[in-house]
Amino acid sequence: MLLEKKVALITGAARGIGKQIALAFAREGANIAFTDLEANEQSQQTADEIKALGVDVRFYAGNAADFDAAHQVVEQVLADFGHLDILVNNAGITRDTLLMRMTEQQWDQVIQVNLKSAFNFTHAVTPAMMRQRSGSIISLSSVVGINGNAGQANYAASKAGIIALTKSVAKELGSRGIRANAIAPGFILTDMTKALSEDTLKQFVSMIPMRRGGEPEEVAKVALFLACDLSSYVSGQVIQVNGAMA
Ligand code: NAI
Repeated sequence: MLLEKKVALITGAARGIGKQIALAFAREGANIAFTDLEANEQSQQTADEIKALGVDVRFYAGNAADFDAAHQVVEQVLADFGHLDILVNNAGITRDTLLMRMTEQQWDQVIQVNLKSAFNFTHAVTPAMMRQRSGSIISLSSVVGINGNAGQANYAASKAGIIALTKSVAKELGSRGIRANAIAPGFILTDMTKALSEDTLKQFVSMIPMRRGGEPEEVAKVALFLACDLSSYVSGQVIQVNGAMA
């Protein structure tokens, strides 16, 4: 198994891409710590599905955008599991609207949840990973963080920030055996994209050379590659998972 006895912490993993990453890691033997905003049926269901794979799992409720709360979660994970090998910064939201209509609150919320949360958790796991001289940090960016997108200035800026954060962390911590990479998914079929209108959905799919949205499992497979030793010399990279969408 690719991740036997490893411990992975995944933020915002009660559903969607984060959940599939947790399941993919668990299938390869990793023990799973995951967070989301609140404990509810969804988080319980996810925990049950992970547990059924025969690994240890714990759920931590909290706002990933809160610096102190993120540090408390990491402390608790280290106390519960003893060590931490993989961090996946996955929690994210959209508040889409044209720039001229965008409120300060919509800007701030998206930057806080998508970008600051990645800083919070990366900051919190770094001392432990430095001590053990190993670690893999994976952050979810987006195709729009590379190309920009009308109606998503806040989201695209947060996802571009993820790329710069990732490359900087890779340079700062490479000498300590810590790798940092980003995944930039294109159009993935989750609750986040289900919120789009049918017309927007059709328009997106027509722009994708593979003529379909991606499945969360297809993002999880790339996360698995980045988490394990198959990518032992891959750091500071952005891997696009987008069906050749430009
Ligand atoms: P989703 O909306 O299905 O799941 C996101 C999860 O994050 C939810 O469970 C939500 O409760 C949680 N979350 C939101 N705010 C949080 C906070 N402050 N603290 C802790 N948890 C929080 O979204 P999806 O599609 O699974 O996206 C996962 C990541 O992938 C996000 O970072 C998203 O931006 C990124 N992504 C998604 C794409 C897509 O097409 N679905 C494309 C490109 C990137």
